[in-house]
Order: sequence, then structure tokens, then C-alpha cells
Amino acid sequence: MTAMKPDVLALGPAFTLPKVMEEMQRYFTVHHHRDYPTTLDDELSQRVRGLATEANRGARSDLLALLPKLEIISLFGVGLDLVDLAAARERNLVVTNTPGTVAREVADLAIGMMLASTRQIIFADRFVREGKWKQGPLPLGRSVYGKTLGVIGLGAIGRAIADRAVAFGMRVAYYGPRHKPDAPYPYVGDLIALAKASDILMVACKGGSETYHLVSAEVIAALGPEGTLINVARGSVVDEAALIAALKTATLGYAALDVFENSPNINEAFLTLPNVIVQPHQGSAARETREAMGLQVVDNLRAHFEGRQLPSPV
Ligand code: 8YV
Repeated sequence: MTAMKPDVLALGPAFTLPKVMEEMQRYFTVHHHRDYPTTLDDELSQRVRGLATEANRGARSDLLALLPKLEIISLFGVGLDLVDLAAARERNLVVTNTPGTVAREVADLAIGMMLASTRQIIFADRFVREGKWKQGPLPLGRSVYGKTLGVIGLGAIGRAIADRAVAFGMRVAYYGPRHKPDAPYPYVGDLIALAKASDILMVACKGGSETYHLVSAEVIAALGPEGTLINVARGSVVDEAALIAALKTATLGYAALDVFENSPNINEAFLTLPNVIVQPHQGSAARETREAMGLQVVDNLRAHFEGRQLPSPV
């Protein structure tokens, strides 16, 4: 007789990637929900031992309360801001995430957004399509060479962005909760000072209560009318009302945003501002990376249920 496969609740579209779903089904009885459930049928509630959940869905206390037999939360992504870690700790749940591949993919998008903003790549595409080229040349963009990139949060993602920026001839400095002696970049312990010194300010820190509205009206004002704010972290880190006000009055020059306070229903003001680039939270959304993340979710679940060492515990 073969052993029963553990029941795993999988939340979010990422788990429908064929390779990922196939691998999950090989080892588990998978119950897939596209959306975050607010109720679960009783029988399922009693059976689920593993939760695979996308970072943008998380595992809040309401869901954890529906899963009395839960042993492990295997997060697809790195950001833990929507996981109730206190509740998980209290119940002795194992928590894992998928570092590694995510950092380089998000860093690539961050650099792409920086260049798209400074070199007006999205605007220029529209300019050609709308026939404006025939009436005259594109207004000039801006260089990144020799400019200063201020990175908020020099974790794996921030570090990958910084290392890439160096290849573009940029100077890099960073702000975070602590100086990192192994990083070859100067630490600036005062965020306003970093914003003042930066041409481009890159938000790459964690979300959640610790960093809520860290990029305040004052930080935005310090970045100034020639400055560019880029956010590939979480919308909650930036005071969005202050950001919109600054972009409207050009007290901040430009913004390039992959994340928002309320996504996908983002503040409509962003859609009408000419000095903003918007992306649909797609930092890690490359096929190879999403597959690797999905397989890492499965590896963590398997390791737990097979009693092996977890590949990437939180
Ligand atoms: C997620 C992310 O993949 O890793 C994170 O924290 O935000 C993304 O990489 C995305 O939220 C989809 O769940």
C-alpha cells in the first residue's frame, strides 16, 4: 500500500504553472484556490497539513484559524509582510520562502524600470506609434552614468540592484536598519540625507509595519524635482498620497512603480501623471524564475513531510 499523500492547500495562480502543478501533485493531494479563501469546507479544513501561498496572498490569522492541522507555510516569494508570523510561531508552524532566484529577477526589473524612466523607453515607444517622430525628434532623456543610486534596504534584492548599477557607472549608497560591513557601498544612516544625495532612490526593503510609510513626504521632498523614486518592494513603504502630490507639483521629478498601496486597484492619479511608469507587480514574473520558485515551494514542503532539513526556512 502506498502512503497517503499529505493534503496541501495551494493559493494563487502561480501554482497552476504546469511544471509546478505536476510536481506538487506528484507528492501531495493538492487543493488549489486562485483567491485567498475566507471560508473552507469543514472536511478540507481538517485535512490540510501544508499551505503553499503566494507572497501577495500570504497567510493571515483568519486563514490560519481555518487550518487546525496545518504544519507548514511554504511561501511562494520572499516578502513575509502578509504572513502572520506571530500566529505561526505560537502554533509552532514551519515557515519557508523562496530566496535566491527572486533577487536577481527583481533586480533586473528594477534596472529596467530605471532605464525606462530615465531614457523614456515607454514614452518613446508611444511617441513612435502615435506618429510624433515624423513631426520632430524625441525630447531628450537623462543619463544614469555618474549618477547616485540610493538603495533603501540592502538585502539580497537591494544588493543585486546595487551590483548591477555599478556596471552602469553609477555611484551607490544605501540606507537600512544597520551597516553591512561586507557591502562595498557607503552606509547612510539617515534616510533624508540619502534621499538628498541621490538622483535615484530605489525602494528594496521589506514591507510590513516596520517600514510603513518610511518614504515619507520629507524623504520625497529631499529627493527633489530632478529625483526619481523607484519602488520594487511593497506599496506600503511609500506614503502614496505624498508621492502623488509631489509628482503633481513636480517637487519630485519622476517615479517608476511596480507595487502600490492598493493593487490591482491602484490610485487612478498614477494613470494620468506623465512622469510615472507603472508596472503590475511583476518583479519576479519571468517564466524561469516563477517555475524555480514553485519548485522551491515543493522542495520545502517535501523536506518537511519527509523529515529532511528544510532548503529555505525563514
Ligand atoms: C511574488 C513578491 O512572487 O517575492 C515576493 O515577495 O512580491 C513576488 O515575487 C508575487 O507577490 C506573486 O505572489
